[in-house]
Amino acid sequence: MSASIGAVIDWMLRPVHHWVWSDFDRRVRKLIAFGEVEGDGGRDILRAAELTPDPLLRRLYLAHAIDELHHADLFRRRSAALLRTRSTRSSGLFNATPLPGGHGLDDLRIDGEPDYRLLAFLHVAEKAAAGRFAIYREIVDDDPSTRAIFEEILRDEVFHMNYTYTQLARISPASYRRHVWRARASRLWKRYLRVAAVVAGLLGSAILTLQYFVLIPPFAWLAKRAEKREVPGWVPIPREHVESPTSLY
Ligand SMILES: [Fe+2]
Ligand SMILES: [Fe+2]
Repeated sequence: MSASIGAVIDWMLRPVHHWVWSDFDRRVRKLIAFGEVEGDGGRDILRAAELTPDPLLRRLYLAHAIDELHHADLFRRRSAALLRTRSTRSSGLFNATPLPGGHGLDDLRIDGEPDYRLLAFLHVAEKAAAGRFAIYREIVDDDPSTRAIFEEILRDEVFHMNYTYTQLARISPASYRRHVWRARASRLWKRYLRVAAVVAGLLGSAILTLQYFVLIPPFAWLAKRAEKREVPGWVPIPREHVESPTSLY
């Protein structure tokens, strides 16, 4: 069910994906960002290979890490090749990518995590990456070299998605489904928090702007009106005020 929700969200976001990939500068920045995420993921999985007590998982993690580092290399080289064909202009209007990268491996935590939790997390992240890269592959139809990279990476991501699920079922046969659901819920919750933080920032700016234009003008008008009533220069003290102006009491 969660997978179908993800597919529906991806389908709804298709125009945004088109918008992101249709611009040369955004395309290059997106490829550079992918290169960083894949490289970070590869190094984290390499760390997992060092820590796991399971020899089969160690071999698989190692192969997985090599794949991710290779993906990082592919993205970096492609972005560099695109940059060589044209110098990018910084539009300044929108330099970031509004959507998360394909993997979401930037959420990965290795130290102190048991293998079953890591495998569940990886399975969910790889599944999302496979769905996202399949969309990107179609969208960059005008750019055969980038499309070929997505083709190659997509094959690896499908393998990662499958081996993590098989291994999770092997090491945790009684509760592997529960681990996957928990990983999905945790991923959704983190995504929700990211979106909520962005929405909260936008709402905060909107409310402060509204306050500036709605609340401050009446006070400014009242202050100006009070200022007009003030007599300029020295003001005589009325007789009934008998206390000394220098006294504290
Ligand atoms: Fe990857
Ligand atoms: Fe992967």
